[in-house]
Amino acid sequence: MASRKNLVANRSALAHKARYALTHPQRVPGHLRRAARDRWLAFKHRDHVSYYRAVMASDTRRSPDAAVGSPTREGWLKLGLLQFDYLLGHGLTPGKRMLDIGCGNLRAGWRFINYLEPGNYYGLDISPDVLIAAKRTLTDRGLQAKLPHLTLTHDLTLDFLPDAYFDVVHAHSVFSHSPLDVIEECLAHVGRVLAPGGFFDFTFDRTVGAEHHVLREDFYYRTETLTGLAQRHGLHACFMNDWELLGHGQSKIRVTAEPLPASPSVQV
Ligand SMILES: C[S@@+](CC[C@H](N)C(=O)[O-])C[C@H]1O[C@@H](n2cnc3c(N)ncnc32)[C@H](O)[C@@H]1O
Repeated sequence: MASRKNLVANRSALAHKARYALTHPQRVPGHLRRAARDRWLAFKHRDHVSYYRAVMASDTRRSPDAAVGSPTREGWLKLGLLQFDYLLGHGLTPGKRMLDIGCGNLRAGWRFINYLEPGNYYGLDISPDVLIAAKRTLTDRGLQAKLPHLTLTHDLTLDFLPDAYFDVVHAHSVFSHSPLDVIEECLAHVGRVLAPGGFFDFTFDRTVGAEHHVLREDFYYRTETLTGLAQRHGLHACFMNDWELLGHGQSKIRVTAEPLPASPSVQV
C-alpha cells in the first residue's frame, strides 16, 4: 500500500524535486539521463504511443525485465506471481478467456498462458521490442503448444477483437504510464469485448493530491478521475481494497458492465 506521504506528493513540483535530489543524490544522474531522453523523444514523437514505444525500445535494449519495471529476475518472477495469484483468487479458471493489455515480456503472462486452455490468452502491446522479448519468454518456458495470441497495437480501440468475448481483461502497470486520453480510449471500447459477467482490472499510480506526471513516463491519478471516466462510458467501477493489502505500490480498479455485488474486497 502506498504511504500517506507518497499519496500526497506532487513529484512534478520544483520543491519536491529539490528535496528528493538532496535526500537521494545517487539517483540524480539517472534522472537527468531520463529527462534528456524525454526531451529528445518528445521532440521526435508528437503522440504519446509513439513516444512511449521509443522509451520501451530504449529500455528493452538494456534489459526487457527492467523495461517492464523489474530490474532483477527474482523481482520479475515475484511480480508476475502476485498478478497471477490475485486473479486466481478472483475466479480465473482454465476455460476463461483473457486479454492482457500491455502484456510486456510476459512477466505475468507466461503464468496465465501456462494455466489457461490453449488459445485463451491474448496479449497486446505497443512495443515491438518487448513483444520479441515476450516470444523469447514463451520459448524459454516451453509454452508453444498453448498458442497464445500476441499482437502489436498502436491504439486501444480493440477494434480487431470480437464482441462479448473476454472474461478477464487485465492491464497491470500500463495506465501508470498513460495520459488520460489513452485511458479513456480503452474505457470507451473495453465494454464491447467483455463477456457477460466479465471484468476489466487495471492498476494505476494513485494520488490523493494534485494529479501530475513525471516526464511523460509516469502518471498519477485520483481514484475518482478514473472511476468517473469509466462511468461516463456506461461502466461500473470499484476500487479493489484487497489489492491494497498485497504491498504493491500501485492501486487497482475493477470495471464491469453490470454492477458488482457488495463485498469487503471492493469499494464502489
Ligand atoms: C510496466 S510494463 C508492464 C507489463 C506487464 N503488464 C507486466 O506487468 O509485466 C508496461 C507495458 O505496457 C505497454 N504499454 C504502454 N502503453 C500502452 C498502451 N497504450 N497500449 C498497450 N500497451 C501499452 C508497454 O509497452 C509495456 O510493455
